Amino acid sequence: MNKLNWGLIGGGKGSQIGDAHRIGAAMDNCFELAAGALDIDPKRAKSYAKQLGIASDRSYADWQSMLEGEAGREDGIKLVTVATPNATHYEISKAFLNKGIHVLCEKPLTMTVKEANALQALAEKKNCLLAVNFGYTGYPMVRQARAMVRSGKLGKIRLMSAQFAHGHHSDAADMDNPRVRWRYDPAQAGVSSVLADCGIHALQMATYIADQQVESLQAHFLSGVEGRELEDDASLTVAFSGGTTCRLWTSAIALGHMHGLAIEVFGEKGGLSWHQEQPNQLYYTPLNKPTQIIERGSRGLHKDATLSSRIAIGHPEGMMPAFANIYRDLRAAMDGDKSAVDRLPMVDSGVEMVKVVQTAAKSARSGGKWLKL
Ligand SMILES: NC(=O)c1ccc[n+]([C@@H]2O[C@H](COP(=O)([O-])OP(=O)(O)OC[C@H]3O[C@@H](n4cnc5c(N)ncnc54)[C@H](O)[C@@H]3O)[C@@H](O)[C@H]2O)c1
Repeated sequence: MNKLNWGLIGGGKGSQIGDAHRIGAAMDNCFELAAGALDIDPKRAKSYAKQLGIASDRSYADWQSMLEGEAGREDGIKLVTVATPNATHYEISKAFLNKGIHVLCEKPLTMTVKEANALQALAEKKNCLLAVNFGYTGYPMVRQARAMVRSGKLGKIRLMSAQFAHGHHSDAADMDNPRVRWRYDPAQAGVSSVLADCGIHALQMATYIADQQVESLQAHFLSGVEGRELEDDASLTVAFSGGTTCRLWTSAIALGHMHGLAIEVFGEKGGLSWHQEQPNQLYYTPLNKPTQIIERGSRGLHKDATLSSRIAIGHPEGMMPAFANIYRDLRAAMDGDKSAVDRLPMVDSGVEMVKVVQTAAKSARSGGKWLKL
C-alpha cells in the first residue's frame, strides 16, 4: 500500500497521547509522518521532529505555518491529527478542513456546541472526513460487543454501566504540573474537566455499542480536591434513544483505580462486560446460562473484531493497535470504503459528546435536573 502523507499537531515529547498516535498511524503502513507542529514551544517542536525523522522544512514552529507550508505543496499532507489541548481543537480543525485536509481531532471535539456544529457543516461542505479520536472503539472486543448487540443476541438492552474512573489527579500538590493544570482551568478545558476528558470516552463507547443516541440526562459533579474550579468526579444517568438507561461514573480522584475504563451491557437475553485493562476478554452471560469468556482472536468472532486484531490468540494486544485500527479505517474511508466509516467514531459522535458535556454541566449546576440534549 502506498503511504499517504500525514501531519501531527501537538503530541510533543512527553505528552500523554502523542506516542499512541504516532505508533498507531504507522502500524499498518497507511500513513507517513511527513509534517508536524509538535509542541507549543517551537524549539522543542523542532528538536523532537528531528528525532522522529521529519524533514527540517516540514517541522514547523506552529500550526499556522504548517497549514501554509503543507497546503502549498504537491505532496502536502492528506490527513492531520489535532492532539493539542481542548481549547485549540476548533480553530485548528477548521483551518485544515478549509484547505480540504481530512482531520482526526482529539476529543472533546470543541468547547461549545456551536463550534462543533460548525465543524460538522464545514466537513460536509468540503467533503472531508472529520473523525474524533474516541480511540477505544478501535479495540477488537469493543467491536465484537457492538456486533453482538446489533445482532439481537442480547435482546432489548435495558441498562448499561459505563465507567472511566482513575485516581491520578488525587494529589492537590499536582496543580503545578502543566499536564494536570490545563485540565482544571476553565479557559483551557471549558465547562468540565473529568467528564470532558474521560467520561465522554466511556459514554461514547456505550452509544457505539448500543447503536443509540443520547436523548436526555441528569448529572452530579464533585470537585473533590479543594480549590479546583472544575469537577474531578461526575456521575450521570443518561436516557438513550432506543430506551436504554446508561449510568456513567467518571472520576480523577478514585485512588487505586488505574485507567479505569469499563463497560457493561445488560439486555433481556444476556449481559456483556469489558474492562480496558484486560482488553482481550469479553465476558458474556446468556440468560440462565453460565458466563462465557470470549477471547480476542478466537474463531467465529464477528468480522469487525477479527479484522481489528493482529496477533495470535493469547498474546496481549492493547491500546496502540486499537489506535492503529482507527488510522487503518481512516485510510480505508479515504479510499472510499463505507464500511470503515461505520466502524469509525465520526463527527456526529463528537458533536453529541460536546452536547453531553454542556448539558451535564448545566444539569449539575441546577442540582441534577433532567435535561434534554
Ligand atoms: N483519545 C484519548 O485516549 C486521549 C487520551 C489523552 C488525551 N487525549 C486528548 O488529547 C489532547 C492532548 O492531551 P494530552 O494528554 O496529550 O496533553 P499533554 O498536555 O500531555 O500534551 C499536549 C501537547 O500539545 C502541545 N501543544 C499545546 N498547544 C499546542 C499548539 N498550539 N500547537 C502545537 N502543539 C501544542 C504541548 O506542547 C504538548 O506536547 C487533549 O485534547 C486530550 O483531551 C485523548
